[in-house]
Amino acid sequence: MTKIMDKTVLITGGAAGIGRLMGEMCLRDGARQLVIWDINKERLDETTRELHSLHFTVHPYLVDVSDLSKVMEAAGRVRQEVGEVDILINNAGIITGNKDFVNFTHPEVERTMAVNTSALMHVTLEFLPGMIRKGSGHIVNIASAAGLLSNPQMSVYCASKWAVAGWSEAMRMELEQSKSGVKVTTVTPSYINTGMFEGVKVNPLLPMLQPAALAAKVVRAIKSGKLFVRAPFMVKLLPLTKGILPVRLFDLVAGKWLGVYKSMSGFRGHGGL
Ligand SMILES: NC(=O)c1ccc[n+]([C@@H]2O[C@H](COP(=O)([O-])OP(=O)(O)OC[C@H]3O[C@@H](n4cnc5c(N)ncnc54)[C@H](O)[C@@H]3O)[C@@H](O)[C@H]2O)c1
Repeated sequence: MTKIMDKTVLITGGAAGIGRLMGEMCLRDGARQLVIWDINKERLDETTRELHSLHFTVHPYLVDVSDLSKVMEAAGRVRQEVGEVDILINNAGIITGNKDFVNFTHPEVERTMAVNTSALMHVTLEFLPGMIRKGSGHIVNIASAAGLLSNPQMSVYCASKWAVAGWSEAMRMELEQSKSGVKVTTVTPSYINTGMFEGVKVNPLLPMLQPAALAAKVVRAIKSGKLFVRAPFMVKLLPLTKGILPVRLFDLVAGKWLGVYKSMSGFRGHGGL
């Protein structure tokens, strides 16, 4: 269990989407201060203004988390200007269109892996030692159901999220083995109605998640020390069903009957970054 009261929370990609919502929820739960890292200056300024008008303490930093030197520099500034981070939510993420892998460019592959995967490890490396020194802290890694289930037309996104899920779990085990006092929560939601996946096709078994409900689930998971947030319910069954069904049968159920393998065909997104 991790108390949010009086804690310093840092959220990457905290200017919009579920990052924005989780930040405000942590503040409403009594967090002492919120550090927001985001690449979008306009939304960063707007979110900061809104949260300041509610009398919360917010420290905005304009950071591209895919740029390691900028991450290191911003982390140093946070430690100096704000102090050590108690709760880190690695949330910033991107999707590059809905195309088959053969149509990707090298820079698109590099950028997706840098933002969605490497950045989480680099940002964590900046703040984890401080948590270990204090003997407490919480790291939340926002992966995706696409980190449990491969899906056509988002192959690089899947790769980036599978990597996050694997790293996040291994780090959790290490931190438990060493009795560090630092907790890790891995989050694997399916589609969330933030605009990031605008236009995708969903179905009753894997419905579009509401951002506020999912954000509240993650904040509750921090407080109760949950290891995983898998939503909706079907996502909890994914590892088991994928493990026991023959591949062709799983393809039939997920791909044909549930239509998951065609879910990206209507994708428009929100333009991304
Ligand atoms: N929306 C979904 O359907 C969905 C589903 C599963 C998982 N996720 C994951 O949840 C997380 C949040 O998604 P969302 O829907 O709230 O997205 P969003 O696009 O609404 O918000 C993402 C935020 O991250 C910021 N960002 C993007 N690239 C950045 C960079 N290089 N450096 C710093 N900030 C950057 C954006 O400016 C934005 O404020 C992502 O990791 C995403 O992959 C989303």
